[in-house]
Amino acid sequence: MDQLGRYLIQEEIGKGGMGIVYRAYDPDIDRSLALKVLRPERAVEWEVTQRFLREAKAAGRLTHPNIVTIYDVGEDSGKIFIAMEFLKGNSLSKLIKERRLTPDDSIRYAIQIASALNYAHEEGVVHRDIKPSNIIITPEKVVKITDFGIARLQDVSLAEQTRTGQILGTPSYMAPEQVQGKKVDGRADLFSLGIILYEMIAGKKPFRGDNIATLFHSILTQPPEPIEDVDSHIKQELNEILLKALEKEPGKRYQTGLEFARDLSRLLDKKKENVEADVPFADKTIPVESQPATRKTGIRRTYVIGVLAVLLVGAIFFVSVMQRGGSGNRSEQGPPVVTESKIKGGKVLFRSEPSGAEVLVDGKPRGRTPLDLYIVPGTYEVKLKKEGYLTWEAQINVERNQSIPLDVTLTPQQGTHGISGG
Ligand SMILES: Nc1ncnc2c1ncn2[C@@H]1O[C@H](COP(=O)(O)OP(=O)(O)OP(=O)(O)O)[C@@H](O)[C@H]1O
Ligand SMILES: [Mg+2]
Repeated sequence: MDQLGRYLIQEEIGKGGMGIVYRAYDPDIDRSLALKVLRPERAVEWEVTQRFLREAKAAGRLTHPNIVTIYDVGEDSGKIFIAMEFLKGNSLSKLIKERRLTPDDSIRYAIQIASALNYAHEEGVVHRDIKPSNIIITPEKVVKITDFGIARLQDVSLAEQTRTGQILGTPSYMAPEQVQGKKVDGRADLFSLGIILYEMIAGKKPFRGDNIATLFHSILTQPPEPIEDVDSHIKQELNEILLKALEKEPGKRYQTGLEFARDLSRLLDKKKENVEADVPFADKTIPVESQPATRKTGIRRTYVIGVLAVLLVGAIFFVSVMQRGGSGNRSEQGPPVVTESKIKGGKVLFRSEPSGAEVLVDGKPRGRTPLDLYIVPGTYEVKLKKEGYLTWEAQINVERNQSIPLDVTLTPQQGTHGISGG
């Protein structure tokens, strides 16, 4: 096999239960990509194939910096494939096997995963198979979640494998309700994320067993052991977060990825807390500068996307705001008056293609792109809205002294399947 559809197969990257992943080349667009080809024995049933294609399409609608981009799904001589962004980097499963991750890295990865899950769940897509092999960490330490939406198919296949007695991997990352074959929602993904966070920091899984029966028993009945071997500053909070994430009952867990991410970023802030006291704000977001559309920054658009929750060190900002309050039209009115003082925040550089999109931070209008905002450290929900385009939204984690370039290419709204347009 050297060609599938219009894609030229170059080399095998890896194999999983459902398929084989190849590095491939698209001659029409002149780019590398990854092709996941469904194993032929999985594709024989028409029902299974249809489900695969349907789910892949649902996942294909997701646009988020921490979710792998799906380009295409198709079929060629009975072989079903998904064409997606080729990712450099390593899977989290490989990283975990190689070494213990630092608590900082672990928490940052978990924040990015939580933020991607929050977005997907809002879009009505549950992953159902969040595990380290489905998480790729790029060399810039940006998380990319793969295999969104195809896990439902795996359930079918798992049932079939169980029937035929050939279970492939150990389902160590399943939530109790999944183990019991009950209906699952996004909270099962958040439970799986809890297991991953635990494993990254502790270097071992919270629920273990020599066989599926003992593993499932542990998932269903055992509380996770507290992690002892961690910085005393954060030990208690971290264990509280993990306990909440790993509650057996979905109703007691984090209900959204956003809640989970917020607690985690608070933990990061705590870790970093130093002498400077935060200046109290009536309002956390302070526009201090806006830039005319003509002033190009030196930021490369392609580079930026990974941004969310990614920490780029910038200069220290000494800013004080004498005039405050965000009107939606700052950029047209010119920058508000600012003088120097000692507020230390992070700077977010909002850019969009096309520009002129309304920027909302935690629901409040802050101006239009291109726009630079100094923001007090914390986690925020950001939306970019422009008429005729799908609303872009994500969660950002702002840290002190950080400069976050946020370059967004807006997707034109088309036909009937608006995601959250308007
Ligand atoms: N878009 C991609 N770019 C680069 N590598 C990828 C991409 N998608 C998957 N991979 C890599 O290909 C390998 C195989 O992935 P695959 O999803 O088939 O297996 P898995 O995740 O181990 O198991 P499962 O079938 O349960 O998902 C993994 O090591 C993964 O890191
Ligand atoms: Mg996978």
